[in-house]
Order: sequence, then structure tokens, then C-alpha cells
Amino acid sequence: MQVGIIGLGRMGSGLTVRLLQGSHQVMVYDRAADAVRALAGKGATATSSLEDLGQKLKAPRIFWLMIPAGPPVDDTIQRLSATLSPGDVIIDGGNSNYNDSIRRAEELRSQQIEFLDVGVSGGIWGLKVGFNLMVGGNHAVFKQVEPIFQTLAQPDGYAYVGPSGAGHYSKMVHNGIEYSMLQAYAEGFEILKASPFAFDLVQLSRLWNHGSVIRSWLLELAQAAFERDPELAHIKGYVEDSGEGRWTLQEAIDHAVPAPALAMSLFMRFRSRQDDSFSAKVLAALRNEFGGHPVRTE
Ligand SMILES: NC(=O)c1ccc[n+]([C@@H]2O[C@H](COP(=O)([O-])OP(=O)(O)OC[C@H]3O[C@@H](n4cnc5c(N)ncnc54)[C@H](OP(=O)(O)O)[C@@H]3O)[C@@H](O)[C@H]2O)c1
Repeated sequence: MQVGIIGLGRMGSGLTVRLLQGSHQVMVYDRAADAVRALAGKGATATSSLEDLGQKLKAPRIFWLMIPAGPPVDDTIQRLSATLSPGDVIIDGGNSNYNDSIRRAEELRSQQIEFLDVGVSGGIWGLKVGFNLMVGGNHAVFKQVEPIFQTLAQPDGYAYVGPSGAGHYSKMVHNGIEYSMLQAYAEGFEILKASPFAFDLVQLSRLWNHGSVIRSWLLELAQAAFERDPELAHIKGYVEDSGEGRWTLQEAIDHAVPAPALAMSLFMRFRSRQDDSFSAKVLAALRNEFGGHPVRTE
């Protein structure tokens, strides 16, 4: 098939190369001309603007957005609209909020433009081993562009999961689960490190990856990280979040679903960004006030 990829960062470039490997015709656009040139060198067709991309694609056009969630997606759709005609399909493969995806699908439907929200998992490894895709939107449009999903995904690694919003909703919860799993591994390894035994974390992570009940791809990645740097000395313990954990927790709150592992995982990320915390100061001050417990001043 012919597809236009917008956003050639870590994920967009991987999607492009995998589509090229699957003999699709891929036209690429990024704000950075270097990124476009790099993919053109691998067989993609370079375009110089969204308008140029729209003109080069044959109708019905398929655009795949792989850019940050929020205003960049609205801005890009807005700028694309001059080149769109009825029957064109916009696929948002980024980690957009599912409410935005429902809204965008409705707005585009009124212009007879199709919209699919696709949760993409697999990270940068998806290029090599295949991505995992959760597709929301109109089922007939899913069938229309299915060859693209077939090429991008692992065998059995893509599915139509429901109407507009369902793709990004399932990806949101997927990422919420990921938060808790990452936190669980992180805590376990810190306890091992604090223990009186001089555990070799490379050895233990490798061992656990062979038949233990906690073996997983994430644990394989932990093993790889420890193999490169057993002390993780080159990394600061500062952890960002990009929204999905907060959104999943908000869903849990809205539906009164207890989700303590997710909540604590998210809050631990916030804690990771503090050198000191005011709440800990308050705790120390109060213990000092009522019990005379000593405080540290440095
Ligand atoms: N990394 C992952 O593991 C992963 C997995 C699944 C989904 N995602 C999602 O996939 C999307 C892309 O992630 P990524 O990891 O590929 O990010 P990335 O490497 O930072 O690339 C982001 C891309 O979006 C473009 N971009 C940034 N701001 C833009 C704007 N305002 N308008 C138009 N384009 C803009 C960037 O263009 P420039 O080159 O001009 O900056 C770049 O091509 C995000 O929604 C992310 O949440 C990421």
C-alpha cells in the first residue's frame, strides 16, 4: 500500500523502515529535513511539507501520524486539512488521550475523513521484532488498511479493539500496567542491592529470565542494562512520565477501581524528580515537635 508517515522520530522512523521492508510505498515528512533525508536514503519518498505529502499520495490517502500527543496532533490535522479529500484516512499512532481521539474522529467524520486511533507498543524494538497494535475506529476502515498493520505487527500482534477511542484507551491501560511492572522490578533490585549479600544483578536477572515466574521482556531489558553497567552509574534516578499513567489512574478514580500499584508507581516517578521533599521536611519537623526526635540539617 501507499502510506504517508508524519514524524520521523524513534518510532516513526522504525515504522517507515518496517513498511519499506514489507514492500509498501512510504512517503515521509518531518519538520527536520535531516530526518526526511535519512529515510529517503533507505527507500522512502521524501516530501518537503504536509502539502507536498498530500499532493504526492494517491487518493484515498493514508496518513500515519507518529508525533507527540496533544496540540501537535490537532495542529498537524488542521494543517493537513487543506490537502484532504473524502475517503482519506488519518491514523494516529502516538500516545494520544482517547478522549481527544473520539473528538478528532467525530470532527473528521463530518468532513468524510476517516480516523483510526492506534495504540502502538513494542518501542524501538518493534522495527526488528514487529510492533503490537491496538486499533480503534471504523471496522471497515481497519479492514481497508489492514495490510499496513500486518506488515508492522508481529504475527497475531494487531487487532481491531473497538470504536473510536478504544485503540488509545487500551494503549493507555497497557502503559498503566507497564508503570506497575517497571516499579515492581525497580523495587526488587533495590532491595537486592541493599541486602547483606553481594548479589550479582546481571547473574540474577539472567537466571530469572530462564524459567522463573517473573521472567519477561522487561526483565530481559533489565538484564541488558545491568550487563552494560551493573551499577547504572551513568544514569540519574530521574523518571519522566508522558501522561498515560495519569490518565489511567484518572480512569480508575472515575470508575472507582482500586489501582494502588499504578498510583504508587506514578507517585514514585514524581518523587524521583525531587532532590529533597517538602513533605519529608514536614514529617521530620513534626516528629521533632512532638517527640523531640532529632532532625538532620544537612
Ligand atoms: N518511544 C516509544 O517507545 C513509544 C512507543 C509507543 C508510542 N510512542 C508515541 O509515539 C509518538 C512518537 O514518539 P517517539 O518516541 O517517536 O518520539 P520522538 O523520537 O521524540 O519523535 C517525535 C517526532 O514528532 C515530531 N514532532 C514533535 N513535535 C511536533 C509538532 N509540534 N508538530 C509536528 N511534529 C512534531 C518530531 O519532529 P522533529 O524531528 O521536528 O522534532 C519527531 O519526528 C508519541 O506520541 C509517543 O508517545 C512512543
